[in-house]
Amino acid sequence: MSERDEALKKIKEEVIGLGASPLYAERMRNKYFPVIGEGSHSAEIMFIGEAPGENEAKTGRPFCGRAGKVLDDLLISVGIERKDVYVTNIVKDRPPGNRDPLPDEIAIYAPFLDRQIEIIKPKIVATLGRFSMQYVMTRYGLEWELDSISKLHGKVFSAKDFQFIPLYHPAAAIYNQHLLGTLKEDFKALRTLI
Ligand code: URA
Repeated sequence: MSERDEALKKIKEEVIGLGASPLYAERMRNKYFPVIGEGSHSAEIMFIGEAPGENEAKTGRPFCGRAGKVLDDLLISVGIERKDVYVTNIVKDRPPGNRDPLPDEIAIYAPFLDRQIEIIKPKIVATLGRFSMQYVMTRYGLEWELDSISKLHGKVFSAKDFQFIPLYHPAAAIYNQHLLGTLKEDFKALRTLI
């Protein structure tokens, strides 16, 4: 096992044992899995969503439900293979009823995301939705550029170690063709960064 594989495995073990999380009891009660992340450990692109939904918590895999189908189609539309990217979330356990993640939930899981970024060293970080956008911009020196996702989506920013592009969350495009069109355009912008 490579050093990267080992370091990512350690994150998985720590999240599995994260009894201090406010979402841990729900995970155990529902026999859910935490969703750590999936894909290439040497990916050039890392996608960061919000938190697992029900399908994800039942399988332990990120973006495997309806939003995942939208993500898969967007990747196909620009010729990127899902196996070549890394997909994760800021919050690794499912918030009950798919509610928005709370600040203390983001705070407890975000250090694991930071470590995933440090280990995988992606060239490009693409956030999906406003929670991961806000976190990444604040954490990685782009807080002065922060604005609403409707203003920032599809724009490219340079952070110290990666190019950053905020994207709308694919779930938002399930019932909104206009947003799906916007996401498709933004994925074309992402494609040019590779
Ligand atoms: N929505 C997310 O933000 N992440 C997932 O893994 C699935 C749905």
